[in-house]
Amino acid sequence: MLFVMLDTAVSHTPTLKAVNLSPLRIPEIQRNPLGFLQQNAAEHGDFIHYPLGLWEVFQLNHPDLIEHVLVTNQQNYSKNTVQYNTLAKITGRGLLTSDGRFWRRQRRMIQPAFHRQRVLAWGQMMLQATQNMLAGWETAVHTNQPLDIDEEMMAVTLNIVGEALLGLDLQADASQLTHAVLTMLEYVVYRSQQPVALPLSVPTPRHRRFHQGLRLLDELIEQAVKNHKRGKENPNTILSQMLTAVDHNNQPMTKDELRDEVITLLIAGHETAASGLTWLFYLLSQNPAVEEDLLAEIDGVLNGRPPTTDDLPNLPTVQRVIAEALRLYPPAWVITRRAIAADIIFGAKISANALIIMSPYTTQRHPAFWEKPEQFYPDHFMPEAQKTRSRYAYFPFGGGARLCIGDQFAKVEIGLVSAAVLQKYRLQLLPNHPVVADPLVTIRPKHGLMMTLQRR
Ligand code: HEM
Repeated sequence: MLFVMLDTAVSHTPTLKAVNLSPLRIPEIQRNPLGFLQQNAAEHGDFIHYPLGLWEVFQLNHPDLIEHVLVTNQQNYSKNTVQYNTLAKITGRGLLTSDGRFWRRQRRMIQPAFHRQRVLAWGQMMLQATQNMLAGWETAVHTNQPLDIDEEMMAVTLNIVGEALLGLDLQADASQLTHAVLTMLEYVVYRSQQPVALPLSVPTPRHRRFHQGLRLLDELIEQAVKNHKRGKENPNTILSQMLTAVDHNNQPMTKDELRDEVITLLIAGHETAASGLTWLFYLLSQNPAVEEDLLAEIDGVLNGRPPTTDDLPNLPTVQRVIAEALRLYPPAWVITRRAIAADIIFGAKISANALIIMSPYTTQRHPAFWEKPEQFYPDHFMPEAQKTRSRYAYFPFGGGARLCIGDQFAKVEIGLVSAAVLQKYRLQLLPNHPVVADPLVTIRPKHGLMMTLQRR
């Protein structure tokens, strides 16, 4: 009944409100973008228009507006925004940043690698990577040392995506890959915080590190391509799929296109999943009653054996807890678009070139759509509650044609890693450890996530 009331309460048409925003607020926005977006929504509502520096900005907080941009009229909205142009400095013209025909060609060539059956076939590898991580945790358990769970999740998710993508041996190559990817990510973070920066060709120490990382990645990719040609590579890797795929003109990807897509998948598929897992462990540590229910389900279904992908449909509480963690801390906390031509949304004019800002973080905490917006409440994802909620009140993986290609991959990965960890350990936040959400490329805990482990 409550859900029906919530739905009825928001079935109004969102109306546009123009707000004068002083340019003096730009440093504040850069310092605390999550706070700014949320405060704006609370003060000005669902559909806000404001100038920001040189841009006309429209902040869309209502699910129907988001659906319009991501789905209904998606062909009018491009990725030509600072967010994606900055990323493109690292990923080139990969899936995440490209647009139009070129994007469609690439998506068609890569999509089969993410077919559900293929994703499920990576389950065993995901579990093995988790078990390798857990073996390393034993010393910390014996000595009662806290671990930075954020760091651990960054490492395990990189191993997983590296193996699925390039078939890299988890133990042997992981440290090289970690170094290369972390160097590049560090640059993405730095660059996304600098409105103006020197071109990458200027040899500053940071730029040199970036180029070194890129060279290392190039070498790793080249090695994997050679292995593939010699028939030595695992035929189930995403790279093998990309090497054998051809477009409608029967043309394969060029070497540069391939490199851009590999780097894109490493960047898009690594930190996002790590962030999801890190916040999930944090939220569980703060909500013992939910944790209790979750552990009872895991123990009941698995009965002490390791989880497999076949178990995931039988773990509905695990699914709800994951969905709820991605609601409160959506790793991709903001999605931007540029209007190609002028458009009308719910009677309001959107000018050509306007910047569109949609924030899963803000809409997924919108009090009109969520019973307990700021609380960790997995019952938000009970089937009856979901039935009555607007589709785009929840969009951690985006939507429309640009829906995350790795959404199934991420759900299977987070499900298996979390079930395998929780089956063995209870994770508790180190007392007094400050937890602050830091919206960088994804939302990360600013000071890491120091937790103690208790064997169950
Ligand atoms: C919890 C984990 C993840 C989250 C929250 C997430 C979120 C997103 C979102 C919101 C988008 C759409 C961005 C937009 O429309 O502007 C996206 C796109 C994308 N994601 Fe993910 N992602 C996750 C995991 C992954 C994984 C594991 C991979 C690959 C292994 C991946 C690869 C990509 C790619 C390539 C795109 C661009 C797709 C396209 O436009 O064709 N993501 N992701």
